[in-house]
Amino acid sequence: GHVRNFSSSPSLNVIQNVTVVGGGLMGSGIAQVAAQAGQNVTIIDVKPELLEKAQKSIKSNLVRVAKKTFKDDAAKAEQFVKDSFDRIKVSTKIEDGANVDLIVEAIVEKLDAKQELFKKLDDLSPEHTIFASNTSSISINEICSGIKRKDRFGGLHFFNPVPVMRLLEVIKGDDISEATYQAMMAWGKSVGKTCITCKDTPGFVVNRLLGPYSAEALRMYERGDASKEDIDIGMKLGAGYPMGPFELADYTGLDTNKFALQVMYEKTGNPVFEPIPLLHKMVEEGKLGIKTGEGFYKYN
Ligand code: CAA
Ligand code: NAD
Repeated sequence: GHVRNFSSSPSLNVIQNVTVVGGGLMGSGIAQVAAQAGQNVTIIDVKPELLEKAQKSIKSNLVRVAKKTFKDDAAKAEQFVKDSFDRIKVSTKIEDGANVDLIVEAIVEKLDAKQELFKKLDDLSPEHTIFASNTSSISINEICSGIKRKDRFGGLHFFNPVPVMRLLEVIKGDDISEATYQAMMAWGKSVGKTCITCKDTPGFVVNRLLGPYSAEALRMYERGDASKEDIDIGMKLGAGYPMGPFELADYTGLDTNKFALQVMYEKTGNPVFEPIPLLHKMVEEGKLGIKTGEGFYKYN
């Protein structure tokens, strides 16, 4: 059985059965790292074709990981891929994912959709189930405002690409219990991440700092101070970043960038987050980055 008591002792904080709601870019990565760690995973998505796509991308990313981990042992590599993949179930019905230790939500970045989902799950899930959101920019307190188990709710903010990026931000809402927080930290470690903790603040740690950086890069380019290529080279070779700000914007998606800046501007009033005409123009033109084939650069 998987019923465990999280309130008595930190040593009992073992999460073995996990549901990921939303099998897109982030959800599929989260499901992968949990399955790789030996946990049983259920992915829920409203669209069956997205579940199929998630399974395909997880399979190929597992092969990548296996090749690296078991360099000289093809049999072990194959076994690792098979075992991890077999731990993942998929479904379009939310009820199939309700009875687990931890539910991580990675659906669209819309407050009402997230609130509605957690209300449903609050009724369906057993007492001990912990809920978490992978939101990048919405308040954790607002997402859980309509549910009863606010003490068993927090943010688990992963970074793209999930299997590669080593960080997990654990976000503490106002009502999270110490036992839930400790269980989240332990789970993050169990899936191979280094966890940092942040209060429920706009952008948390990483996006709050990346926001002004990317906004300032856009303004620099808008003013014509330097070319986007040179700004990218500058930050890679001069600051050791793996990607320059324009490569990163294309990678993350310009719509996502625009939305994150907008939310941080509304919530903080800090002029560093003020709307950037160039960014708005490009989003209107559908130049969203890698996913649409063109952003600051062209992709094929
Ligand atoms: N799954 C599994 N492995 C992957 C992968 C994936 N999806 N993508 C890349 N990899 C692996 C590769 O196999 C490779 O492994 P080895 O070096 O061990 O062989 C390694 O990652 C590097 O990949 P590449 O050689 O293909 O490319 P790269 O060296 O340019 O690295 C990158 C790619 C990891 C994406 C790197 O460019 C990078 O770190 N970029 C910055 C990413 C970043 O800042 N992400 C955070 C965005 S903000 C966010 O996510 C939060 C939010 O709320 C929006
Ligand atoms: P995505 O569009 O790739 O995936 C979202 C998935 O959720 C889709 O497959 C969609 O069909 C599904 N979905 C939508 N509503 C649903 C519902 N009610 N029930 C079940 N499934 C539903 O999006 P993504 O980039 O993976 O982002 C997901 C979440 O992660 C967002 O909250 C986003 O802010 C956050 N996030 C994104 C990034 C990033 O770099 N893309 C990084 C960190 C966090």
